[in-house]
Amino acid sequence: MKNKIIKLSFFSMLLFMEYSANSQTINNMNLLNTSQPVKSLSSKYDAKIDQLVAQMTLEEKIGMLHGNSMFATGGVKRLGIPELKMADGPLGVREEISRDNWSAAGWTNDFATYYPASGALAATWDAKMAYTFGNSVGQELRARDKDMLLSPAINIVRTPLGGRTYEYMSEDPFLNKKIAVPLIVGLQNNDVMACVKHFAANNQETNRDIYDVQMDERTLREIYLPAFEAAVKEAKSYAVMGAYNKLRGDYLCENDYMLNTILRDEWGFKGVVVSDWAAVHSTVKSLKNGLDIEMGTPKPFNEFFLADKLIAAVKAGEISETEIDKHVKRILGVLFQVKAMGGEDRVKGSIATEAHYQDTYKIASEAVVLLKNEGNALPLKLNRIKSIAVIGNNATKKNALGGFGAGVKTKREITPLEGLKNRLPSSIKINYAEGYLERYEVKNKGNMGDITMNGPVTIDQLDPSKLEEAIEAAKNSDMAIVFAGSNRDYETEASDRRNLKLPFGQEELIDKVRAVNPNTIVVIIAGAPFDIDAISKKNKALVWSWFNGSEGGNALADVLLGKTNPSGKLPWTMPKNIMDSPAHATNSFPGGKTVNYAEGILVGYRWFDTKKIEPLYPFGYGLSYTTFAFDNAKTDKKEYATDETISVSVTVKNAGKVDGKEVVQLYASKSDSKITRAAQELKGFEKVLVKAGKWETVTIKVPVAELAYYNAEAKKWTVEPGNYKLKLGSSSRDIKKEVIVTIK
Ligand code: BGC
Repeated sequence: MKNKIIKLSFFSMLLFMEYSANSQTINNMNLLNTSQPVKSLSSKYDAKIDQLVAQMTLEEKIGMLHGNSMFATGGVKRLGIPELKMADGPLGVREEISRDNWSAAGWTNDFATYYPASGALAATWDAKMAYTFGNSVGQELRARDKDMLLSPAINIVRTPLGGRTYEYMSEDPFLNKKIAVPLIVGLQNNDVMACVKHFAANNQETNRDIYDVQMDERTLREIYLPAFEAAVKEAKSYAVMGAYNKLRGDYLCENDYMLNTILRDEWGFKGVVVSDWAAVHSTVKSLKNGLDIEMGTPKPFNEFFLADKLIAAVKAGEISETEIDKHVKRILGVLFQVKAMGGEDRVKGSIATEAHYQDTYKIASEAVVLLKNEGNALPLKLNRIKSIAVIGNNATKKNALGGFGAGVKTKREITPLEGLKNRLPSSIKINYAEGYLERYEVKNKGNMGDITMNGPVTIDQLDPSKLEEAIEAAKNSDMAIVFAGSNRDYETEASDRRNLKLPFGQEELIDKVRAVNPNTIVVIIAGAPFDIDAISKKNKALVWSWFNGSEGGNALADVLLGKTNPSGKLPWTMPKNIMDSPAHATNSFPGGKTVNYAEGILVGYRWFDTKKIEPLYPFGYGLSYTTFAFDNAKTDKKEYATDETISVSVTVKNAGKVDGKEVVQLYASKSDSKITRAAQELKGFEKVLVKAGKWETVTIKVPVAELAYYNAEAKKWTVEPGNYKLKLGSSSRDIKKEVIVTIK
């Protein structure tokens, strides 16, 4: 038997070395298969920046502090200062938008690769995939001659109904940061800036322009800030986007505590703070409280808060020109850093290449989650079937564009139906039927984007002729696959969903298809939890795919056919009932003008586990076509000091007949804690490939500092001494081994 010690994976070991080095200047990431090092903002341009600023007029300086078009700030041509050019976003580089309104610019050379949405990326539980994602998008951003990607979006999934759940990563701060950091590193290695958003506590769309979040300090620090903190301190993100809403009474784009005290003073952020679009509400206050750039939606750009009004404020002596210079210098700093100022070789990039499509294929393949597989219904046994009914609007629905907010204009989006056609032998006949129609009540469809929680009202009656077609297809086929779920019109920025119900009559459709063909399986394509309890009980196999990028259909077909063994794990809890979810159980969503985060630190599985509520599918859950056994769990020592790192190892055996990847998840518990704690918290994970019948030893490093709680009274992270249970499992609810360590 092979006894290969994997000290973390090779890749995460490098990331670990990199981040723990915590160097202020250059962290050498050459070993990450890239010639580009990870850099903090360099001070080598300071003298040049001073010289430039000394030559600028007040008007020229202020021109750099606000949008001069939808996605760029002003430059100063006579001094060779270019515009700072931005693009959304989380799904890849957005199509070119007109300079002065939201309509598409109508370019023909702005086709890009559509990358799997952030929920999918997080479901890979794989730092390598996050790095690949960032690096690949960074290339595309350069090919489009942009300086800043408005991404990643790393807000915590507080409620499953949140309209942007698909665009965010997780309900868990640890998974969130472990995916965000390598993504940013990969991105910024291409002479571009990441702009992590939306800083912070921006967790719903309902009333997003006005709501004021109230939460205690410990919750802020432990749940809502860790990924931002890691983005700034470890990944050295060059930009941060302030959110729309308020925290503790102050808008987040003019929040002194968040932007000055935490972001700059505590975390040492040296980059630029960009507002969300039209999220600024004041002139002097926002600038003094930490905002650098105001971006926004159509109105004359000189009417922005940081435009003519700011010039007037300087002239009236309400703010000094030295203060203006400080912000201008920051912007010049990031422009120099990404080599936008000229005089240095800059990454040229490439876009919509086969290599990038293959990047999305790899990520998509690792993201698909197998939820149920009774009697090994999957992978499909092609020798036993001659025909497959492919049913459902989602078999052909495209999601690169849709809804309200950033999408990608792409030449390649392989749908599930196309994926099956590409991968199935021609001897197998596909009988396609649309089954259900995506339909909205006309008078309510308009609510999308109204930010009133009135997500679109769907028409849930099945169309009789579509139903009939589906039944005929199922009757005349050896098996049926129903592609159900939602899409990016239904899940959208700017409105939260009304409930967890699967729209458009899909549950009824699935029941009727299964009634005529018991050999039916279900694939859900969605970016956020849905109520699939009944579907899960009644159907023998259930697969979860996502808004899964350009190659999503091929990746999915390969999972269904067994070419890929699924290894995705849920990045959030799938509740049985929305009222089981913490924000709903505490009646603190959507709130009114004030939203009180009453569940505190018990977000996501922390709530379900602590309150002993059974979820439908737990955080970290996902099956494989093989089974894994864990053995020989141990730590390198029994006792640790607070500045040490715990090394936990476990042997993972692949007890089945096919190779597979398992995500070893490490949760920490402290049962005798003097403070309120969640029943368990994720503190480490590692994805490992284990060949059939073989085993691998996985070592996960847990810095003792990760066990700290935020002591709000003392204003510092504190590690409580005593015993901690470290639990190793294949999901938060499937713990296979436990070890106990003592912290001195
Ligand atoms: C979104 C941001 C996005 C910006 C520009 C806003 O409505 O909240 O995430 O980057 O628009 O498109």
